[in-house]
Amino acid sequence: MTTQLSTQPFDQAKSEVFAENLLATLNSGALSLMISIGHRTELFDTLADLPPATSPQIAEAAGLNERYVREWLGAMVTGRVVDYNPADKTYRLPAEHAAFLTRAAASDNIAVFAQYIPLLGAVEDQIIDCFYKGGGVPYSAYKRFHAVMAEDSGQSVVSALFDHVLPLVPGLIEDLERGIDVLDVGCGSGRALIRMGQAYPNSRFTGYDFSAEAIAIANAEAQRHHLSNIQFQVQDAAQIEEGDRYDLITTFDAIHDQARPDIVLRNIRQALRPTGIYLMQDIHASTDVGGNLEQGACHLLERKLEQVVEVSTAVG
Ligand SMILES: C[S@@+](CC[C@H](N)C(=O)[O-])C[C@H]1O[C@@H](n2cnc3c(N)ncnc32)[C@H](O)[C@@H]1O
Repeated sequence: MTTQLSTQPFDQAKSEVFAENLLATLNSGALSLMISIGHRTELFDTLADLPPATSPQIAEAAGLNERYVREWLGAMVTGRVVDYNPADKTYRLPAEHAAFLTRAAASDNIAVFAQYIPLLGAVEDQIIDCFYKGGGVPYSAYKRFHAVMAEDSGQSVVSALFDHVLPLVPGLIEDLERGIDVLDVGCGSGRALIRMGQAYPNSRFTGYDFSAEAIAIANAEAQRHHLSNIQFQVQDAAQIEEGDRYDLITTFDAIHDQARPDIVLRNIRQALRPTGIYLMQDIHASTDVGGNLEQGACHLLERKLEQVVEVSTAVG
């Protein structure tokens, strides 16, 4: 029986359903942390390759400490991620689950996104400070942000880039093949641009991001791939002062992050040549929370996985 704490009408059944959902949320939160660990330690990949195996066998195959692997397996079993046979104490990752948890699952690997939960948890103190003092928490405070974002980008941006996104603009592929000037704003670690640089050697690519850490990773990757048609620079998108410079400007998952999206979009427009194209891929969410409620349940991750692509042609 739940205690009624106010004089408002009280629906006992509604209250109990809410409490159950709340407890499920707590369990799912804890399970997400464990799924993140399973991804980072490659335990899911190890399990997917093994027949039913004991904890020591799994730990040996993964090259990890058995005591920790056993505890993690316990969480995976009670979380209904891994099957357990008490008769011979063996664990098995069903193929139907491996299809969404392993690196072999490529863009279907949902475990990648579990990493955002610990990443966000690590800045809780700074966020709470902001509730009292205002201000903000810089990207640099989010440990591993660019590493996780690069994995995310591989799945939500690069995987759809050549087959779905670029073909949305009539003639763009042909232009890229012929050779045009391209800028990617908020390029992060540069995964999308590097793939484009490889695919279209006649085009010239520039990536801007205001994170020196991300740009260092992007430049190192470009060098590793011996790409001479690509350059990455530390640049705040709100401070771009270029005119008539690019034939194509892209933003992948970067406009929703902006403190001043109006200024960034104006700068992008100015930097485009008169016949230039601006191509934006971003999260399908509304500024007004009322627009984020359809289908009864709105989760940021669902929205992230359902990113829409918006294409607009710059008008001179
Ligand atoms: C969600 S991440 C997306 C990164 C990349 N486009 C991708 O798909 O992996 C947003 C990126 O925008 C960058 N960013 C945010 N505001 C920026 C600004 N004003 N100028 C330049 N970069 C910015 C961040 O540093 C971060 O790398």
